[in-house]
Amino acid sequence: MKIESLVRENILKLKPYTSARGDYLTGILLDANENSFGSVVKDEWHLELNRYPDPFHNQLRNELGSYLNVEKDKLFIGVGSDEIIDLLVRIFCEPKIDNAVILEPTYGMYKVACDVNDVSTIPVMLDESFQPRLDKIYSAINKNTKLIFICSPNNPTGNVINSESILNLAKNFNGIIIVDEAYAEFSGKPSMINMVEKHPNIVVLRTFSKAWGLAGVRCGYCITSPEIIKLLYKIKLPYNINKLTSQIVIYALKNFAQKDKFVTAINFEKEFLIKELKLIQKIKKVFTSDSNFILFECANPTDIYHKLTEKGIIIRDRSNQVKNCLRVSVGTRDQNEKFLNELRNVL
Ligand SMILES: Cc1ncc(COP(=O)(O)O)c(C=O)c1O
Repeated sequence: MKIESLVRENILKLKPYTSARGDYLTGILLDANENSFGSVVKDEWHLELNRYPDPFHNQLRNELGSYLNVEKDKLFIGVGSDEIIDLLVRIFCEPKIDNAVILEPTYGMYKVACDVNDVSTIPVMLDESFQPRLDKIYSAINKNTKLIFICSPNNPTGNVINSESILNLAKNFNGIIIVDEAYAEFSGKPSMINMVEKHPNIVVLRTFSKAWGLAGVRCGYCITSPEIIKLLYKIKLPYNINKLTSQIVIYALKNFAQKDKFVTAINFEKEFLIKELKLIQKIKKVFTSDSNFILFECANPTDIYHKLTEKGIIIRDRSNQVKNCLRVSVGTRDQNEKFLNELRNVL
């Protein structure tokens, strides 16, 4: 497959902005109209905050590459995976002409990113086990379909999407398959990262917002073929990742054992929550979860959602996506017990 043939004409022709720090990061830097005297903030971290950051995220990509065992030219860093979703839409989808297939129910930002870019979306429902229906997907695709969004583990259903279906699409669909693995750390099931080598049209999205506990920092990344990585670097804003973000994420990578401990603890609490939810008679169904949240079904979910918020317990009403369902994130034991107590009362 020729990735280039899928890219919008204006992006192929684009002469990208050449940022000052793209060429030189050291020397007597008088090229970027920065403040050479320093910064109003005491630079305790020796980051030279008065200087623009490296637009190509070299240090961060080196560290992330060695952590993941992935070559640097297959890595792009974004301001959360949300930025990467938007960039992919803009690289491949011609507004008002092209479209993207979204396997629903799923994470809402895929549609929002398409809507913002005036790119139409074709929803294809997952089956009753929340797995893709390949026949439905293939009949929904048309000559203007450029992207298929697959979320695995899927938000809000919590399950991993079977890899055979993803690979079937990667082989047969002449477009880009975006596999959003925001919750992969919690699943223990094989990631699609290793499939990128063989399938240059697969883009695996990852984030530091979930297992790593860095949602406030805003950092996500993707693993894909070097051709797509080059396109992402070509169109992103010059200095999307700031120096503070880079340093915090590099520190986090060195401290990956803490992330592993969180994953173990969260998965343990998840099993506790699932067990307790199943004991509540008025809960009709508790779905299995490969993520850090649980979807469950009950009568009058919106009512229950509002009553819980009145008690200060905030969960998510997903009944507009999955009939009668609420979604709860796994919390600490104390939070989980408070949630369960209030839920029992409300029900
Ligand atoms: C499936 C999925 N992808 C991506 C994100 C957003 O990730 P980030 O914080 O990296 O933008 C979320 C956030 O809830 C999500 O559920």
